[in-house]
Amino acid sequence: MDLQGKIALITGAASGFGEAIAHRYAGLGAKVVIVDLNEEKAKAVAAAIGADRAIGLRADVTSRVDIDVALEATVKAFGIPDIIVNNAGYTHKNQPLLNVDEATFDRILNVNIKAIYHMVQAAVPLMRDNGGGVMLNVGSVAGIRPRPGLTWYNGSKGATNMLSKSLAVELAPWKIRVNVICPVMGVTGMLEDFMGMPDTPENRTKFLSSIPLGRFCEPGDVADAAVYLASSDFITGVELPVDGGRVI
Ligand SMILES: NC(=O)c1ccc[n+]([C@@H]2O[C@H](COP(=O)([O-])OP(=O)(O)OC[C@H]3O[C@@H](n4cnc5c(N)ncnc54)[C@H](O)[C@@H]3O)[C@@H](O)[C@H]2O)c1
Repeated sequence: MDLQGKIALITGAASGFGEAIAHRYAGLGAKVVIVDLNEEKAKAVAAAIGADRAIGLRADVTSRVDIDVALEATVKAFGIPDIIVNNAGYTHKNQPLLNVDEATFDRILNVNIKAIYHMVQAAVPLMRDNGGGVMLNVGSVAGIRPRPGLTWYNGSKGATNMLSKSLAVELAPWKIRVNVICPVMGVTGMLEDFMGMPDTPENRTKFLSSIPLGRFCEPGDVADAAVYLASSDFITGVELPVDGGRVI
C-alpha cells in the first residue's frame, strides 16, 4: 500500500499507537503532522521522521482554538489533510465506578469525544471542499466488550465507536470515509491505568488470559489497521477490532 502524496494529521502522536501510525504513514510516503499535548515529544517524533516529511505541534484536542491552529499549520506546511486520525485519548485508572470524580469524568469525555466534535467541525469543510478524505478514530474494544473498573472510559469509547459509524453514513456523500479502530489492551503509556495494578509479568497474565491470541496489542498492530483503512477506497463505517480475538 502506498500513501505517496497524502497528508495526514494524527492526534496523540507523540507516543504509543499514534507515534507508530505516524512512522508507518511517513514510511509509505505520506507527509505527517504530529499533534499532541506534549510538544517536546511531538517535535522529537517529527524530527525522527525527518523535517521534510513531518512537523510536530502542541495542541490540546479539547480546545477548538488549538485544533484550528493545528489545521492552519498543517495547511501551511503541507496542504489540506487527506487523512485525520483522532487518536488522542484519556482514561481514569481501573477502579470502582463510584470513585471516579466529576473532573476526571469530564476530561475523559472531552478528550475522547468532544475532541472529535471539534475536529469534525473544523476539518470536514476543508475535506469536503478538497473532494473528500479519510477520518480514522481510535475507539476501543472497551466500547464493545467492557471490563469492570473502566465504566466511564468504556462508555466514552462506545460513543467513539458509534459516532464514527454515524459520521461515515452522513459524510459519505462528500466522499469522506470514517472508520474506527478498536484495539484491545496495548503496550503503551495507558496500560497500567487499564490494569489498575502494577505492570508486572504476573499481573499481565491475568489480562492475557482474556485475549485468545495470548498477547497484548502492539502499536504496530494499530498502525497496520490504520494503513489499511486509510488506503482502501471503498471501506467506510467499519468498527475494526485489533484485539487478538477479545470480542469473539
Ligand atoms: N493502550 C491501550 O490499551 C488502548 C486500548 C484501546 C484503545 N486505546 C486508545 O488508543 C489511543 C492512543 O492511546 P495510547 O494507548 O497510544 O496511549 P499513550 O498514552 O501512549 O498516547 C496517548 C497520547 O495522547 C496524548 N493526549 C492526551 N490528551 C491529549 C489532549 N487533550 N490533546 C492532545 N493530545 C493528548 C498524550 O499526550 C499521549 O501522547 C487512545 O485513544 C486510547 O484510548 C488504547
